Amino acid sequence: MPENEINRESAIVTLPYQDWSATSPSSIDAVAALEQGKVLFFPHLAFNLTEAEKTLLTPELVDPKRKNISYQPEQQKLTGVAIEGKHEAVQKLLARHHRACQALVLSILPEYRHTLHTPTNSLRLHPISAWKASNSWRKDDTRLHVDAFPSRPNYGERILRIFTNINPAGENRHWRVGEPFPELAQRFLPRLGRYSPFISWLQDKVGITKTRRSHYDHLMLQMHDAMKADLEYQKNGPQQAIEFPPGSSWICFSDQTPHAAMSGQFMLEQTFLLPVAAMKTPQNSPLKVLEALLHKPLI
Ligand code: SIN
Ligand code: FE
Repeated sequence: MPENEINRESAIVTLPYQDWSATSPSSIDAVAALEQGKVLFFPHLAFNLTEAEKTLLTPELVDPKRKNISYQPEQQKLTGVAIEGKHEAVQKLLARHHRACQALVLSILPEYRHTLHTPTNSLRLHPISAWKASNSWRKDDTRLHVDAFPSRPNYGERILRIFTNINPAGENRHWRVGEPFPELAQRFLPRLGRYSPFISWLQDKVGITKTRRSHYDHLMLQMHDAMKADLEYQKNGPQQAIEFPPGSSWICFSDQTPHAAMSGQFMLEQTFLLPVAAMKTPQNSPLKVLEALLHKPLI
């Protein structure tokens, strides 16, 4: 075992569910594990596509100006489909996927059922090798990072993501996951640039951001960039490789769990936001960890 390899059990919890509206109780406290930054892994939770839906699995369906096809179910707003005649089929698929994710939340994360909000899901059709080749290091998600939205400050709200590998040809999605957030924060905080309320105000005024970036949002973006820019950390930082086969799903707080997608193609992904106050243990949130380290409020 290489010395930078983190223990698999401390990073991943495996759950046996086969059904999105699972009723079989598990003895594992899924919320506690997630809030500790672990990945919940469901090796047998597949999202089955109809024969007609399988014909949608082709990168040509994605608008060349976008990375993925995305859907906001509450607005019924679909973005990024390049082929006009395929809109309805993609929308139906993403609406059904969203309902499956809602059912999963209800059965395994019931504590969050009233507080998760702003759902967006995506159909990811490009091979990871293609987006790696065409993007800058900042957008290169094959480097370990925590998620932070450059244009949509979230003021500490949690980013919960549910992923499902739908590859029809048996190809795994290969990830790396990294160290616990408190260790990550202690490692990177001393290197992060200072926050300027004036620059945040200006970025909001000229439309770079949708609302003003808080000190928290500034730090998370800086951390995202500092991690990706540090090639020594990428290679030798604490990490664990995980393979997610087709027909499996996994969940994590992607603002907390360092992750990198190394290879694979064809995935469904659902994002929800969660207020820090809705957590069972708010002290585990990146916001509270950073505030404790810096001894001041950050939003
Ligand atoms: C990411 O969130 O960094 C990418 C995840 C993936 O595409 O597997
Ligand atoms: Fe990410």
